[in-house]
Amino acid sequence: MCGIIGYVGKPRAKDLILEALQKLEYRGYDSTGIALLENGKLWIEKKAGKVRELAELVNNKESNASTGIGHSRWATHGEPSDINAHPHWDCRKNIAVIHNGIIENYLPYKEKLQAKGHEFLSQTDTEVIAHLIEENYKGHLEEAVRKSLQGLHGAFAIAVIAKDSPGEVVVARQCSPLVLGLGQGENFAASDIPALLNYTRDMVFLNDGEIATIRSDSIKITDWNGKIIERKPQRIEWDVVTAQKQGYKHFMLKEIHEQPDSVANSLRGRYALETGEVRLHELEPLSAKLKKAKMIYLIACGTAYHAGMTAKYLWQEYLDLPISVELASEFRYSHPYLDKDTLVVAISQSGETMDTMAAVRKAREAGTTIVSIVNVVGSTLTRESDGVVYTHAGPEISVASTKATLTQITVLNLLGLYMGQLRGTLSAQKRKEALDNLVKLPKLVEIVLKKEKEVEQLAQTFYNKANFLFLGRDILCPIALEGALKLKEISYIHAEGYAAGEMKHGPIALIDQNMPVIVLVTKNSAYDKVFANVEEVRARKGIVIALTDDRNKEIERVADYVLEIPHTAKLLTPMLFTIPLQLLAYHVGVLRGTDVDQPRNLAKSVTVE
Ligand code: AGP
Repeated sequence: MCGIIGYVGKPRAKDLILEALQKLEYRGYDSTGIALLENGKLWIEKKAGKVRELAELVNNKESNASTGIGHSRWATHGEPSDINAHPHWDCRKNIAVIHNGIIENYLPYKEKLQAKGHEFLSQTDTEVIAHLIEENYKGHLEEAVRKSLQGLHGAFAIAVIAKDSPGEVVVARQCSPLVLGLGQGENFAASDIPALLNYTRDMVFLNDGEIATIRSDSIKITDWNGKIIERKPQRIEWDVVTAQKQGYKHFMLKEIHEQPDSVANSLRGRYALETGEVRLHELEPLSAKLKKAKMIYLIACGTAYHAGMTAKYLWQEYLDLPISVELASEFRYSHPYLDKDTLVVAISQSGETMDTMAAVRKAREAGTTIVSIVNVVGSTLTRESDGVVYTHAGPEISVASTKATLTQITVLNLLGLYMGQLRGTLSAQKRKEALDNLVKLPKLVEIVLKKEKEVEQLAQTFYNKANFLFLGRDILCPIALEGALKLKEISYIHAEGYAAGEMKHGPIALIDQNMPVIVLVTKNSAYDKVFANVEEVRARKGIVIALTDDRNKEIERVADYVLEIPHTAKLLTPMLFTIPLQLLAYHVGVLRGTDVDQPRNLAKSVTVE
C-alpha cells in the first residue's frame, strides 16, 4: 500500500504535493518522492525515509511548477532505498511514474525491454511502466498509458507526467484506490480522500479499468478502450481524521474490513490454477535447501505464533518431515535441535520483534536456513533471513493484529504447498484442490464480514462479563487461542483460549452460569468430540456461544447462542473463524470504552526481550 498524489493547476505544485504526502504517509512511509514539470524539464527528487526528510531536501528549491506527482512508499518489490523510491523514469527521463500496488508480470516485460536496450535502475516492478510508456509514447500521453497497461496484470493505481505533455497528469486504476478532486482552476488525483480535503471536497471516484486525464480546467475519464465515461462528483463532508480511517471509527475496524483486499494481495501472482503450481519466485534460490530440510521450526510471538500453530496443522498434511511450532521468546531456552538441514520459518508482521530476532539469531549460529514471513519490507528480520515471503497486507496501524494475521495464514498455506511441490509430497491434483479453495478466500471473507451486526449484538450481551473461555480443536484450536488473545488485548477482559479436549483437564473447574464459553465447531474438525465438550459446558450451566458453519443445525439444540458462517473446505476455516472473533473483541472493546487502536501497556512492535 502506497500513497500517490497528482496535481495540475496553479504554480504551487511543489508545496501542495509535499503537504498532501504528509496526509498520505499513514499508507506507507519507507520512502518518498516528487516529480515536477518545470520550464520544459522534468525535475525529480526522491529518497528513503519520511516525507519530512524529503521536504528538508527540497525546501530551498524555488519552484513555480504547476504540474507534478508525489509518492509515499510501502515497499513490495525492492527494499526501501533512494533508488527504489518513486517516481521512476524512462531512459531519457522524459516520463515519470508513481504507482501503488503490484505488477505481477513485470519480470517478462522487464526482460523484453532490457533486450531492446532499456536500462533499469531499480529493483521495482514499477519501473517497467515508465519504460513501456516510453515505447508507446507518440506525443499523446493518455494513449501511451492506455497501450502500456494492456498486458499488465496485478493491482495498480498510477500517475504519470511527461515532459512533452505539459499541463496534464494521466492516472489509471486497476484494483488500487484512486480518487479525483475538483478545484477552481486546479484538479487533483490521490490514493484517498484525506490527502485532498484541504483543497476540495468535490470528489470523483475512479473505478477499476479506468484512465483519467487531469488538466487545470478539466478531468476526462475513459475506460481501457478509450470510451468516455461521465461521472458526477460527490461532496465529501468528513473531517481529515475520519477520512484517514475511511469513515471507520478505529483503524482496527478499518483493517478488519480491508481483509478481502489484503488476502487477495497476498495471493496475487503466486499460483497457476490450471496446473496447481505454486509460485514463490523469491524462494527459488533456496530450493535445494528446502528440498533437503529434515526438520522445520515455526517461530513467532503473539498472534503470529497462532498463525504458526495453524500452519503446523496444514503442513503436516502437506509435508514429510517433523514440524515444531515454538514461541520465539522460549526458543533459546528449549535446547532446540539445530543443524544445517533444519529450516526455521519466522513469522512477524513488523519484522522487528526482539524475541523473534533473538530466536532467529540463535538458529543462524547453527547454520540453519531462515525463511521469514513478514509484512514490513526491509525490516530487520528480512535482512537477517535467507529468504523472505512478504504478506502484502499493507501497513497495519492498530496495535491488534488483524489483516496481518489473515495474510500470514494465507502465505503460510502457500509456503506449505510450495514445499510440498518442491519435495514431491503433494500431487498437482492436491495442490490444485487447495488453490481452488484458497482463491475463494477474499469473497468468503467479504461474506463473513457481513455478520458484523450479529457479532455486535453478542458483544452487547456479554461486554460486561469478567471472564471468557474460547475452545477449539484440531485446526481451530489455534483460532480459539487467537480469539482469547484479541479479546484480552482490546477489552482487558480475562480470556483463556484452550484446546477443547483439554478443558476436562483443568479449565472445566472455571465453568459456572457466569462463564461465556465460545466454542468453534465444524463437522470438519473433531465434531463429535467438540460437541461432547459443548454438552459438558452446558451440564455445568456455562453459557455456550457456538461459532459454527451452516451445515450444523444440531448445535442450535445445545448452544445458547449460535453464530453461523458459510461452510468451506477445512483449510479455510481458520481464516474465516478468526474474523468474527476479531469483530467481537473490537465491539466489546468499544462498548467498554477502551483505547481500541492503542490498548494500554502494549506496543505495535515489541522491541525488548
Ligand atoms: C497481536 O494482536 C499483538 N499485538 C501481538 O501479539 C503481536 O502479534 C506480536 O507482538 C508479534 O508481533 P510481530 O508479528 O510484529 O512480530
